[in-house]
Amino acid sequence: MIMVMTLPPKPSQSPLMQTLGWTFRPLAFMDRNRKAIGDAFSVRFVGFERPMVLVSHPEAVKALYTERRNGLPPGRAFSLEPILGRRSVLLLEGEEHLARRRLMLPPFHGERMRSYEGVVAEIVTAEIDSWPLGREFPIHARMQAVTLEVILRAVFGVAEGPRLERLRMLLRDVLADTGSAAAQLRLLFARRRGRDPLGPVRARLTQVDEALFAEIAEHRLRPDLQRRDDILSMLMTARFEDSSEMDDQELRDQLMTLLLAGHETTATALAWTFDLLLRHPTELGRLRDSLANGEEEYLKATIAEALRLRPVVPLAGRRLAEDLVTERLVLPAGTDVTAAIWLTHTRPESYPDPLAFRPERFLGQAPDTYAWIPFGGGVRRCLGAAFAEFEMRIVLREVLTRCELRKVDPRPERTGRRNITLSPRAGTPVVIDARRPAREPALA
Ligand code: HEM
Repeated sequence: MIMVMTLPPKPSQSPLMQTLGWTFRPLAFMDRNRKAIGDAFSVRFVGFERPMVLVSHPEAVKALYTERRNGLPPGRAFSLEPILGRRSVLLLEGEEHLARRRLMLPPFHGERMRSYEGVVAEIVTAEIDSWPLGREFPIHARMQAVTLEVILRAVFGVAEGPRLERLRMLLRDVLADTGSAAAQLRLLFARRRGRDPLGPVRARLTQVDEALFAEIAEHRLRPDLQRRDDILSMLMTARFEDSSEMDDQELRDQLMTLLLAGHETTATALAWTFDLLLRHPTELGRLRDSLANGEEEYLKATIAEALRLRPVVPLAGRRLAEDLVTERLVLPAGTDVTAAIWLTHTRPESYPDPLAFRPERFLGQAPDTYAWIPFGGGVRRCLGAAFAEFEMRIVLREVLTRCELRKVDPRPERTGRRNITLSPRAGTPVVIDARRPAREPALA
């Protein structure tokens, strides 16, 4: 076979128009290029030195994610390092990255999740009790409150009290300051002009850092640190292979990473799931019936289908360490390549009638590793995937068994953008018509 290494064709628009299209109408932008060009195309964004190749065929996705030596394209560090810090697991590469994965994976693994069930259920129960009856409100914002609280309590291990309140307030503000599409564009252009990318957010971030360092110091004083099951305690007691431990600065960076990677994403995935379910009464009814029978298979399938149709993180890119070769595509080492997750998820070859919401697709069938990639793949696959799915199951179960809720506007939500996520633009407004009391906890 003769290998011709040229990048796949690019859209006819200028880099500025591509950046605007991608920022404000990402799905339309990708769909248009898929139709005009095909499974792989090269885009050029303002502020990026090289084009980025978007691939979507599962074969290309597999080749991209199974090569462990692939690095990160500079875009990730570019926009995230000012907030996450240099030691963030999301930004490190090579051996340093793998060492963090080894240390951080155990607390996020399968069975561990059970220990968080009580905390998550307690948080969502209190949240449901605070919702207004008969009045429309955006459920996305309420899901953000839930997932922030889950991170603060289960991941950071902050106990109830004034410190929790202060941290909650500070983090909410920083997330709001950095989240919008406009803020992301500001960051891109500030970098380009050599200005401080954080600008006015820097002062607030310093306050957050102080609060996080205080929390870490407080954890160090706890006599039960070894036995605690919040993730910060586990990171503090874990050791690298050379028996060293994470210092305070690194613990701060990983906490910010877990917050940023885990809070908005899970809240957004939940909001999209409500948007889909409330527009599909048959599937909603089937889910409710299955929950009433104490079954969770349909719930798991619903979550898989929602993450397929509305993947909240659109790209998970790499810089190729080696040539990427598939039957259809050859890309040279050094190219920046990303899976276009929504395009991969909406190929009719993998998912017949791909735009239809059908949880049944995943009943009795695990999602395909390279055709279902809401959590990315390979050695950089999302560390919190099991945690996120677990949290989503508890929240959906509690809300759907306690509340009769509906969407007032029957149309699908349009896609907007917050932080790195694609989120429902109007925040998924819902109305609660009836609410049952929380179940009594079982007697000991
Ligand atoms: C539905 C919710 C979530 C989605 C859709 C999601 C998606 C992703 C994606 C696409 C990546 C990039 C993977 C890659 O480059 O291949 C990622 C990485 C990551 N996620 Fe998540 N995530 C979610 C929830 C969480 C949660 C709850 C946490 C932790 C509390 C978390 C922690 C991380 C971390 C630490 C990484 C970096 C992994 C690495 O670079 O090695 N995520 N996530």
